[in-house]
Amino acid sequence: MKITCIVDNAVSDHSSFWGEHGVAFLIETASGSILFDTGRSGTVLLHNLKLLGVEPKVINALALSHAHYDHSGGLPALLDQVAGIPLHAHPDLFRERFSRREGTLKSVGLPLERQALEERLELRLGAEPMEILPGVWTTGEITGRAEPEGRSAHHLICGPEGWEPDPYRDDMALVLETDEGLVVLYGCCHAGLLNTLAHVGRTFGADIIAVAGGTHLLSADEAHLRRVIEVLRELGVPRLYPNHCTGQRAYVTLAQAFGEKVAPCPAGTRLNFGGAE
Ligand SMILES: [Fe+2]
Ligand SMILES: [Fe+2]
Repeated sequence: MKITCIVDNAVSDHSSFWGEHGVAFLIETASGSILFDTGRSGTVLLHNLKLLGVEPKVINALALSHAHYDHSGGLPALLDQVAGIPLHAHPDLFRERFSRREGTLKSVGLPLERQALEERLELRLGAEPMEILPGVWTTGEITGRAEPEGRSAHHLICGPEGWEPDPYRDDMALVLETDEGLVVLYGCCHAGLLNTLAHVGRTFGADIIAVAGGTHLLSADEAHLRRVIEVLRELGVPRLYPNHCTGQRAYVTLAQAFGEKVAPCPAGTRLNFGGAE
């Protein structure tokens, strides 16, 4: 099973890939290809896919980690070329969500109306885990959030009694069943890195051998980072490929704790795991 980072905030030195705030991964298995998130814009997504020699029409299925524009922004540019394929996401995907900074509200959800997606794609919305292709699953809604979440204080929804913090019910990750064990692929991890790992452990019940994607540790305090390291040690230290919303301080803390088990994951990074090829 092959995972390629298509979009990330970062690119390697002298790379021809383009970077922007957002994330997208391509997962290639013997049964087909899945695009997980689409970055912030079609411009960067399509440029980086082209550089990898990947035609959008070879994509067999889409999945969105959550609604935010830095994960769904590339979707409109893809629709013509992937019409008819399934899109997997949580049912809360279409809930309106906002960012409020210095008193200014901005819509930060999907760039398309539900109807526009329904006309072009086969929507598969579910709060339970869904198998996208053999061996590749959504986590379903991350339940039992006992550990810190990956929150941003400016993220809001409008509830029945007014503005309230976004509960991020739509936030999901992917789980890849490889011959080596489970690989967990994050979008933005608002539900929390540790909550997601605990949920995967309860739901899928196999060893997690690698974790890649946005871990949302950008604003994690020292106690939170210490707890992350403690739990990852308990899990036998999976390989870590953090990117997007991880933050440099958290990345360095993880690298200092786990050395070669931690590697960067800028746009263009390819990861290979045994099985389903
Ligand atoms: Fe987000
Ligand atoms: Fe994000």
